[in-house]
Amino acid sequence: MNTKANKGRALITGASTGIGATYADRLAARGHDLVLVARDVARLEKVAADVKARHGVQVEVLPADLTSKVELLRVEQRLRSDDGITVLVNNAGMAVQGKLIDADIDRYDAMIQLNVVSVTRLAAAAAATFGKRGSGDIINVASVLALAPEMFNGTYSGTKAYVLNLSQSMQTELGPLGVRVQAVLPGATRTEIWERSGGSISQLPPEMLMEVEDMVDAALAGLDLGEAVTIPSLPEIADWNTLQAARHALGPNLSLSKPAARYLRNAG
Ligand SMILES: NC(=O)c1ccc[n+]([C@@H]2O[C@H](COP(=O)([O-])OP(=O)(O)OC[C@H]3O[C@@H](n4cnc5c(N)ncnc54)[C@H](OP(=O)(O)O)[C@@H]3O)[C@@H](O)[C@H]2O)c1
Repeated sequence: MNTKANKGRALITGASTGIGATYADRLAARGHDLVLVARDVARLEKVAADVKARHGVQVEVLPADLTSKVELLRVEQRLRSDDGITVLVNNAGMAVQGKLIDADIDRYDAMIQLNVVSVTRLAAAAAATFGKRGSGDIINVASVLALAPEMFNGTYSGTKAYVLNLSQSMQTELGPLGVRVQAVLPGATRTEIWERSGGSISQLPPEMLMEVEDMVDAALAGLDLGEAVTIPSLPEIADWNTLQAARHALGPNLSLSKPAARYLRNAG
């Protein structure tokens, strides 16, 4: 029996395991009914049954392969038509390991479809519904690799840099409409993504690896603090603010009518 005030439905992608399944548990504990999206119906139903038993909320399973346009459109349509949805957790994602030169390019293509195209289309659908209503939270799960393209597969980190960039732009656009947008940048977190991408979690130094419950609890605490960007392990938020200030300081010089002096040395 749910005794909490109903806070509307949260639609969570990639909810069959890992970070998404943990968001399902934590958002249900906060009084949200849930719509759970992923491909594996049996695992989604298991998460749904567990969450219902623990928190007594309504849970619906909406199976979809978000790399399939037809199936993605079904989820998008739900976000555009269901005014009871108050939170989107744009979490489903995949990673690849290895070098561009050796790439299985179709796998890269699927990753871009999932990490970039589906995230964008679902964010746009939620933005339209939430913006019209004047309330709602869009949580986009990026990665600290958005800030570290040299550390891992560049295409994966590129997709996550895209999610960060999109989120920051959405904050500017949607904040005035009453919609909160949060980018979450997890570091290494104990989930299946490592094995699924062909890597191994056991190769990571233990001091770099966060438990998934700690990661999601920190991300939700960041949301409660009103953070636009949450990096769960970053000790000092001032370090993030310094990076943003340095970026903004470049602003006035990024587009000028004349090339910089160092490029004029060989001019006629
Ligand atoms: N774990 C980390 O270290 C880490 C660090 C930084 C960022 N992240 C990001 O966090 C997010 C969640 O990752 P995770 O670590 O929880 O990974 P995970 O354990 O591998 O879970 C990924 C989730 O996405 C779903 N998914 C995968 N492909 C899909 C598709 N084509 N259509 C629909 N759903 C799909 C999976 O479910 P099905 O297989 O049932 O479809 C699963 O529910 C991702 O965006 C990831 O990039 C993770």
